Amino acid sequence: MVNDIKKVSLTEEKIAEHVKRLGKQITADYQNKEPVFIGLLKGCNPFMMDLLKQIKTYCSVEYMDVSSYNGTSSTGKLIINQDLKTNISGKDVIIVDDILDTGRTLLEVKKLLTSRGARSIKICVLLNKPEGRLVPIEADYIGDLVPNEFVVGYGLDYNERYRNLPFIGVLKEEIYSK
Ligand code: IMP
Ligand code: MG
Repeated sequence: MVNDIKKVSLTEEKIAEHVKRLGKQITADYQNKEPVFIGLLKGCNPFMMDLLKQIKTYCSVEYMDVSSYNGTSSTGKLIINQDLKTNISGKDVIIVDDILDTGRTLLEVKKLLTSRGARSIKICVLLNKPEGRLVPIEADYIGDLVPNEFVVGYGLDYNERYRNLPFIGVLKEEIYSK
């Protein structure tokens, strides 16, 4: 599995540094609030778990499983595979995802949660791929920037593989052409 990786983009150590910094920042920003962390499955998994351990204030944890419908029109459509089980009206929400790429998913999720009456909504992603952006949305908390290449590991998959890698890397070309 590790042999399929051409280049390491972020080491385990670097990821841990980012997670610690983001945890500190969010803890400071939510001092007298009780945020609801909403993780987007499945990619958020390792990041969400590590981040939560760095949050030193009361909070709650929820998950959604969504995908954005990549249609021809620029107005994205959200497919909800698994919805929230709680009412987030009046809550301070932090959406957690692995990567912000085209922005379609996060834009649609943000719209949905706004329509459900969230008091505030912030977005926290481990990775930002600014060159991939197709819709206007930015994250409030960002681990690191990555160039416009497909990365795997630490939650990010290629055909459901590699989510379990402890670091983030780029696959060898021959893996895609198999
Ligand atoms: P969006 O394009 O910003 O809507 O991102 C949607 C989802 O695509 C992300 O949450 C990831 O699951 C996936 N994705 C985007 N870029 C990559 C990548 O480089 N590697 C693996 N998954 C990615
Ligand atoms: Mg994802």
